[in-house]
Amino acid sequence: MSFYVTTPIYYVNAQPHLGHAYTTIAVDVLARHMRQRGEDVFFLTGTDEHGEPVADAARAQGLQPKDLADRNAERFKALMPRLNASNDFFIRTSDEEHKVRVQAVLQRVHDNGHTYKGLYEGWYCPRCADFKVENEILEGNRCPIHEIPLERHKEENWFFRLSTFQEPLERLYADRPDFVMPAHHFNEARSFIGSGLQDVSLTRARLQWGVSVPWDPGHVFYVWFDALLNYYTALGYARPGEDLTERFWPANYHIIGKDILKFHTVFWPALLMAAELPVPHHVFVHGFLLGADGRKMSKSLGNVLDPFEVMAEYGTDALRFYLMRDVAFGGDGAVGMDSVRSRYDTELANEYGNLASRTIAMVLRYRDGMIPRTDTDAVLAREFDGLATRVSALLDRAEATQALELIWQRVRRLNRYVEERAPWQLAKDPGAAGALDQTLASLAEGLRVISVLLHPYMPSSTQRLLDALGVPQVAFNGADFAGQGGGGSVVALEPLFPKRV
Ligand code: MSP
Repeated sequence: MSFYVTTPIYYVNAQPHLGHAYTTIAVDVLARHMRQRGEDVFFLTGTDEHGEPVADAARAQGLQPKDLADRNAERFKALMPRLNASNDFFIRTSDEEHKVRVQAVLQRVHDNGHTYKGLYEGWYCPRCADFKVENEILEGNRCPIHEIPLERHKEENWFFRLSTFQEPLERLYADRPDFVMPAHHFNEARSFIGSGLQDVSLTRARLQWGVSVPWDPGHVFYVWFDALLNYYTALGYARPGEDLTERFWPANYHIIGKDILKFHTVFWPALLMAAELPVPHHVFVHGFLLGADGRKMSKSLGNVLDPFEVMAEYGTDALRFYLMRDVAFGGDGAVGMDSVRSRYDTELANEYGNLASRTIAMVLRYRDGMIPRTDTDAVLAREFDGLATRVSALLDRAEATQALELIWQRVRRLNRYVEERAPWQLAKDPGAAGALDQTLASLAEGLRVISVLLHPYMPSSTQRLLDALGVPQVAFNGADFAGQGGGGSVVALEPLFPKRV
């Protein structure tokens, strides 16, 4: 089965920050999990480079837009390996191959009669690159997101007949209750559609930094249409000489933040319908990361969590774990260095890391490094029954935090098991050799299973541990707790999550 998953493409007028890291990590967890299951995965990310915000930022720095885009796209590209993201391609909307494909799709939309020329007047936020409707504008004509003054814009544009898709969209939502997830965002999108759709402007006459409109070359496409189409165009040229569209279209999941819900749950499916292309299976909308004080993160409030700082101090896996663990995926959540520290100390260092070190140390000490080949503890094994199936069912619905919680309950269970069995006591009693064998084999097996399950979240530490256990495979069909353990040999392991002083 194919599995195509995407992040939003990030604006190059800003530096990579925690929000970008968050969505990218979540998508990486899903992509890695599906690869473990042997699915044919394509994970796309990239940069959104056209439009007014980028043109304005370039002008302010005395640069050409393309130069600014080149410089900042590199920063986003470099972020991916830092996060250990396994993206299969990195699209830039300034790619020529993207632009010609955008033109082809939108020409079809035009030829199908879904456009017309008209006069647009409205309140426009240059940071959102979006017109605001009257009822969302803040007092003093300010942007509801950026709180900056809106600009009054009037221009002759090509329009996309979004209003004619009201009924097809309503049908889509009626037929596919999981088109948008989680449910509260489905309801939000549906009620937005239900409240009546207005046509939207498709082109800009005043701007040059964009994809030019083939049937009216004085215009460029409104950046959002150019941007949304990245999900489609990338498949056409990500692999030179090969078109992946048949294999991967439509996407299984577009993962986005709730700030861009309207574009992905209303404009995007309508645009695809207008171009006679299949719509995605799901759009999953996650919440906002907030400052530790529960307010929007902002430099001036001093409540920004810097992903690079977290990675420098605790490592990439710790950042990945923390973000998937501490904020329920799909909701909003406050994040901060204090809670990173406490999750690291209590969960990563004490619970998982310590379990790993103890288990390996005991196998080395008591059994010369050989995991005893014997039956595992049937009671413990039962507590792992069905775990892998439940984890994969949750990840099928992109419930990354819930799946992690299920796995973590077993990490805690294994720690209790060590205490219950007290292998250091068994080791003193020659008559308890069988019990000690079983305890060590069961611990090693439990540790192997949770590490396979945790692999998408923390690819490098889990791999180190699995290597030390002598069982490097991470394939998902090995995620069941075996009735018979052992036989392999372990090697000493440096602490996975060293205690910090
Ligand atoms: N370029 C558009 C998206 C086009 S997709 C066809 C854009 N770019 S962005 O750089 O502003 O990135 C927005 C995305 O970054 C959000 O949708 C979300 O995925 C992520 N986040 C940015 N800030 C965030 C938080 N504070 N919290 C969580 N995610 C955030 O919009």
